[in-house]
Amino acid sequence: MCGIVAYIGNQEAYPILINGLKRLEYRGYDSAGIALMNEELKVYKTKGKVSDLESFVKDKDLSGCMGIAHTRWATHGEPNNINAHPHLSEDKHIALIHNGIIENYSSLKKELITNGYTFQSDTDTEVIVQLVNYFHIRDGFDLITAVQMALSQLIGAYAIVIISKDDPDTLIAARKGAPLVIGVKDGAFIMASDVTPIVEYTNDVVYLGDEEIAIMKRGKKLRIVDFKNVKKTPLLKRLEMNLECIEKGEYPHFMLKEIFEQSDTLKNSMIGRISSDLSSVALSGIIDNKERFINARRIVIVACGTSWHAGLVGEYIFEHLLNIPVEVEYASEFRYRNPPLYKDDVVIAISQSGETADTLAAVELAKNAGAFVYGICNVVGSSIARMTSSGTYTHAGPEIGVASTKAFTSQVTTLVLMGLAIAKEKGMIDEGYLKNIVTELYHLPQKINEVLALNDDIKMFSNRFTYAKNFLYLGRGYNYPLALEGALKLKEISYIHAEGYPAAEMKHGPIALIEEKMPIVIIATNKGYYDKIVSNIQEVVARKAFVISIVTKGDTTVKKLSNYCFEIPETDEMLVPVLASIPLQLLAYHIAVQKGCNVDQPRNLAKSVTVE
Ligand code: G6P
Repeated sequence: MCGIVAYIGNQEAYPILINGLKRLEYRGYDSAGIALMNEELKVYKTKGKVSDLESFVKDKDLSGCMGIAHTRWATHGEPNNINAHPHLSEDKHIALIHNGIIENYSSLKKELITNGYTFQSDTDTEVIVQLVNYFHIRDGFDLITAVQMALSQLIGAYAIVIISKDDPDTLIAARKGAPLVIGVKDGAFIMASDVTPIVEYTNDVVYLGDEEIAIMKRGKKLRIVDFKNVKKTPLLKRLEMNLECIEKGEYPHFMLKEIFEQSDTLKNSMIGRISSDLSSVALSGIIDNKERFINARRIVIVACGTSWHAGLVGEYIFEHLLNIPVEVEYASEFRYRNPPLYKDDVVIAISQSGETADTLAAVELAKNAGAFVYGICNVVGSSIARMTSSGTYTHAGPEIGVASTKAFTSQVTTLVLMGLAIAKEKGMIDEGYLKNIVTELYHLPQKINEVLALNDDIKMFSNRFTYAKNFLYLGRGYNYPLALEGALKLKEISYIHAEGYPAAEMKHGPIALIEEKMPIVIIATNKGYYDKIVSNIQEVVARKAFVISIVTKGDTTVKKLSNYCFEIPETDEMLVPVLASIPLQLLAYHIAVQKGCNVDQPRNLAKSVTVE
């Protein structure tokens, strides 16, 4: 979703800002813009991609050692040149960029219009810059006070950055709900919605806290105050990330790179967490809060998208290992439902980005209700990671492709580790069984490499599906959430309609859709109720569908029934979602590539959904 980059220092701002916008393209957007300042304040913006902005500014004055830049994902007002950010105050002295939504913008706009203001755009953002202008110019407050006064009027979530022609040495930023990170280097500041535009300039960052305002002056120390003007001490953190992590390298797409990274990312999720003799697991978040987990009456998992699918796998894991009630909730529903929550509930928020607005709100609701909230996040220092009482990082590294791949497998692995660690604390797990699973976990990265070797076959085979209009994905048990995830991957990037279903539920509706040659993907690795899934496959075969199955190596029955079959190595049922998700990711990827789709930045989608 909207991306923010801003710079103040002694270098020319344009190359830094445009490069930063390119780094943020993965978040999803439909227009881009930039404001640069020396003696003049220059604003250039256009509908389309950052490359369109580059062409647009080719013959323009791009000088200035300070500026703000933005990629906009339209919420209020269609994607066009006028609605693109930055927005200017009516006297054209102040420029502002914004990520988030101002919920009361229409009443504020009405008031400003009554006060003689005119508006250029259909956005909610423009009211912020006009309000700042109102307090600054009409009421005569200094810029920082005017910003504080304007913010006190806003309802909603936002991250904003402001520059003013009248104060050419100051960059002002503020956040409430939406993320902002400030890179600090030798008296210069580069700030952004996430760290990807920052890492190539500095590894020293400050995460701006909620309801904080940052004041950055060239050559001066970073100043932070809260919305009530109380001084805060900036907390400098060191980023453990390098440029390689956020570049494609030899791969044509980030998604393929990230699929192929999974053997390593899984190792990173487990490192230091499984004992060297493979007999046990230890997670500091569980150890530090063991009473909470031991005494939990219920586990409630809140998440969105792919993270929600990982949560569903978590339900199977926790029920199996802990014999405890588990509920998995869409964060967007949970937050508005008035769900009963108890002090002995453990609420687990799962989020790759750690910035998803609905998950963030669900965390807040659970905290306010007195529940213990635990985070499973990938992005270190993200809002959800900071808001939760405790948690476990998945350590999958930056995920740039919009379709989540390595984040999912690391989330499932983390949930298995958590299940084992809690079961151990509760004295509920047999030592031999624990050792077996930990040994399986240890061998998982190698098994992932075996699954990745299917890539060429899947690529060749995916050719035939560019014609398809519908796909059905089926699975039972642990493979049911996987069926949902497989279908989501395909629709996200290839725009082919796909549905995931628990295999037995097929008879209650989707079977009506089946016609000759309709591709049906069936994950049939189950040991538990193998015969049941075989019957489901037979029902599909009888209707002449095209059956693509994922089976355990050595399977013969399902193989015979299938038109095409991918074999994955044998592993514990709990870990199958990790291995079996990989052919599903590759299938979706290759079909989308064959169809000529923009795999890394699918239409309308955003990587980090920072508005509800
Ligand atoms: C967006 C992304 C998905 C992601 C979901 C939740 O929809 O495109 O890939 O699964 O948000 O994001 P989170 O960062 O909270 O896991």
